Amino acid sequence: MSAVERTETQAARARGASSTQAAGKQGARRQAPGVQGAGAQGAGARGAGVRVRVPAKVNVQLAVGAARPDGFHDLANVFLAVGLYDEITVTPADELRITCSGPDAHQVPLDESNLAARAAIALGARHGIEPRVHIHIDKDIPVAGGMAGGSADGAGALLACDALWSLGSSREELLALCADLGSDVPFSLLGGAALGTGRGERLTPLDVGGAFHWAFAVADGGLSTPAVYGEFDRLTEGTDVPAPAADPALVEALRTGDAVALAATLANDLQPAALSLRPSLAATLSAGTAAGALGALVSGSGPTTAFLAKDEDAATRVAEALLASGTCRTARVAPAPAPGATVVGAEDG
Ligand code: C5P
Repeated sequence: MSAVERTETQAARARGASSTQAAGKQGARRQAPGVQGAGAQGAGARGAGVRVRVPAKVNVQLAVGAARPDGFHDLANVFLAVGLYDEITVTPADELRITCSGPDAHQVPLDESNLAARAAIALGARHGIEPRVHIHIDKDIPVAGGMAGGSADGAGALLACDALWSLGSSREELLALCADLGSDVPFSLLGGAALGTGRGERLTPLDVGGAFHWAFAVADGGLSTPAVYGEFDRLTEGTDVPAPAADPALVEALRTGDAVALAATLANDLQPAALSLRPSLAATLSAGTAAGALGALVSGSGPTTAFLAKDEDAATRVAEALLASGTCRTARVAPAPAPGATVVGAEDG
């Protein structure tokens, strides 16, 4: 094995995702101070739970309009779900609590600012149910990385609680609740590929005609989405920001599964803002391009950078070169498209 060690977690293997990352960061498990771990609860309070798997996303096009009066920006946001997954398991408990495991678990908030907690509270409030659940997040999606990891947990908790409480909510009801939680949350539920308009929450599914193979460079530390939008506003101040529109050539490249054509049309209007706040990302983009990526861009608001490769082997080579370049913390490979939030099993609590 070279400087790059392939270390797939058991969970990642079970999900079919692969990782190329530095060794020694696996297995952290975290819980809020003063709360009991899942295994420590009395047997009487435990019951069968529901496990949901939710993908990450990359924005293959992110066209951003001028700031709206409500502070959000109108978008033409082409989402593509990729095969890196968080797994959210919800089991009955005495009170709402969250635990998290995975290499970046220490960065995940375990209070009610976590979208998974907010999802359980919102769904419970709608149906008059106290959200007495233990939500465990097995986190494989980079935290604060521009890959919708927090949104994935919100969508996953919503779907898991809906199943646990036997509510049978329609997809439309769940999508509306997702939109209240955050702009990217509806897409985490839907998966596949979709054009998001409005602030990104109004989705039109898009056809994808083949598999696309990606490498992702995970940076050290996250970037705040509001800060990146704020920097976009600063950089575009005094200019005429055009109304955002989807690129027909990009939509066609997705439909035909043409990686070369998709690479030629990748575009992210937030990229200059992310690079302005994190100039070191330019070196990461160059390293992936030099390693043979067909195209490269910052994922959403960053700081994860995404590299489209011609096939799975090429994606692995790009990931290995990225890690060897020393310009990122971790490199991952993942195929797209991936399905949206899916119930994958019942769990004994
Ligand atoms: O919707 P969400 O909570 O994910 O948005 C986080 C922040 O990102 C917003 O508070 C806003 O600052 C920014 N944002 C935006 N325009 C969008 C989506 C998000 O300005 N369309």
